[in-house]
Amino acid sequence: MDGNGRWAASRHLPRLAGHREGARAVRRTIEAAIHHGVAWLTLYAFSSENWRRPAEEVLDLTGLLRAYIRSELAELAAAGVRLRVIGERERFPADVQADLAAAEADTAGNARLNLTVALSYGSRAELAAAARRIAFEAEAGTLDAARVDEAMVAGRLYTAGMPDPDLLIRTSGEQRLSNFLLWQAAYAELVFQDVLWPDYGEPHLAAALADYARRERRFGARPG
Ligand code: IPE
Ligand code: MG
Repeated sequence: MDGNGRWAASRHLPRLAGHREGARAVRRTIEAAIHHGVAWLTLYAFSSENWRRPAEEVLDLTGLLRAYIRSELAELAAAGVRLRVIGERERFPADVQADLAAAEADTAGNARLNLTVALSYGSRAELAAAARRIAFEAEAGTLDAARVDEAMVAGRLYTAGMPDPDLLIRTSGEQRLSNFLLWQAAYAELVFQDVLWPDYGEPHLAAALADYARRERRFGARPG
């Protein structure tokens, strides 16, 4: 979800206004995903690298996250959304961590839309953590180093048990993955949309899904 700052700047507004409008786009997009029958949606809300932004902006983003969970959770739960969080959640203030854990627990029985929010998420850090765990397990003798395979790596990522993404959308015209789901998106179809995140909504998601539907996915196999 990219482009909040540019959206605000083009209107001579503070960046916070862009992030606020971005939160509204999150709501619209979740509704659109449910409408289109999307079963899994992962939103890259805050990267490990975003901590390097000025303290004031980090505080604004954390505040928005806190407010969002508190104001939207009941509605999300009623709509059948199951919330999961991936990333270094321990870097957030304790009250936010508690809210996130409660939101996950409260929605654990839902299955209509599996909504994953990536918070303080970075793919390389996730892979390094998985490598660390595998090394410790090998050292402890509970895992045979010679048998480490793709499934064992995947099973030690934040996304263990979740399907790999079929479609990866980046907004705002940037064409980068920016450390997002590098392992999981190995075969994802990439769609880059030239729309700033605060402007995102149903028509854009519909266009991305239509684009995806036209792609021929082969997973490395020969055209059949
Ligand atoms: C994305 O918008 C929101 C977050 C990273 C939280 P940006 O804040 O990156 O907006 P631009 O890229 O400056 O326009
Ligand atoms: Mg950006």
